[in-house]
Amino acid sequence: MPVITEIEDLKRIYRRRVPKMFYDYCESGSWSEQTFRENSSDFDKLYLRQRVAVDMAGRSTKTQMIGQDVAMPVALAPVGLTGMQHFDGEIKAAKAAEKFGVPFCLSTMSICSIEDVAENSNAPFWMQVYTLKDDDFMQRLFDRAKDAKCSAAVITVDLQLLGQRNKDLKNGLSAPPKLTPQSVANMMTKVQWGLGMLQTKRRFFGNIVGHAQGVEDASSLSSWTAEAFDQSLNWDRIREFRKMWDGPLIIKGIMDPRDALEACNVGADAIIVSNHGGRQLDGAISSIRALEQIMDAVGDKIEVHLDSGVRSGQDVLKAVAMGAKGCWIGRAYVYGLGAMGEAGVTKALEVIHKELDMSMALSGHTDITTVDKDILMIPKDFSNEWR
Ligand code: GLV
Repeated sequence: MPVITEIEDLKRIYRRRVPKMFYDYCESGSWSEQTFRENSSDFDKLYLRQRVAVDMAGRSTKTQMIGQDVAMPVALAPVGLTGMQHFDGEIKAAKAAEKFGVPFCLSTMSICSIEDVAENSNAPFWMQVYTLKDDDFMQRLFDRAKDAKCSAAVITVDLQLLGQRNKDLKNGLSAPPKLTPQSVANMMTKVQWGLGMLQTKRRFFGNIVGHAQGVEDASSLSSWTAEAFDQSLNWDRIREFRKMWDGPLIIKGIMDPRDALEACNVGADAIIVSNHGGRQLDGAISSIRALEQIMDAVGDKIEVHLDSGVRSGQDVLKAVAMGAKGCWIGRAYVYGLGAMGEAGVTKALEVIHKELDMSMALSGHTDITTVDKDILMIPKDFSNEWR
């Protein structure tokens, strides 16, 4: 086993072990993938100020996200089809998150169901919900999350229709994978993955198949989204969803200060500045560039988180310095999961934690909750000079 010191190492192993169809699903953005790329590369445009001769003993990365204690300001983001990256993937990721002390958020489009994850983990997890046309299904999702003792709900508002990911169309992405000569030939080279999949019954969209009426075939993300997702979504409808769930509520997919203010008005507890990992509107600015204007607009009205592009502890530190209360990682932990199952997710969290802790120290801080913009050097045109 190679020495793993950074997230890229996990990605290399992941690429070798998981069928191309699922690797491509994770490692892609919509259309030209400009936004997908810039989500990460824009972090490199923010510089950290190095400070010296500051006592760096006794450091802590502990903080809170929506009032819940976390070992570091990082949550595992909802990622569809995680149980196709590694057998029982959502359960494995939830267990790793629980042991590390960070939140795990289950996707509506997961392979393991809400009940499966609840039965196989101990810490309360968070549940992500799409905005669907079917009110009964929505209410049932919230009720199932409540029965499973989920401690927060996340409503994703940026997927009224599914962005076009060219690789998924070319690969014929589905769960379980359709057997074509190409997919079979590729899967035969992924022996460990295949043996894992043979051990489990969980190979379908666990929250949907058998739960959503009139949906015969939810094997393909694109057919399900075309059928069930609500293209007429508006803020009044989001207010109705707010009434369906009485716990903490997070709204995911905010990129504009005006939408951030709307989210405050519907009574959300937090928003996630996110362009869905560059998977929806290609050509949108990166999340890290959008963050500052949104922080300025909402002030302390609402807690602000960030996702999209976060691949290191330095990225987390920069987002926190810009004002985010926490970051969500998706691909960074999926690489670990596909590479090594639960141990790989733990490894991804360890890598990010170490980077965060050391970068914080070298920037002159011992407590993540005191980090602010002072540690950053922000180019003048980074976020406030759009016209
Ligand atoms: C679903 O949320 C996706 O981005 O594939």
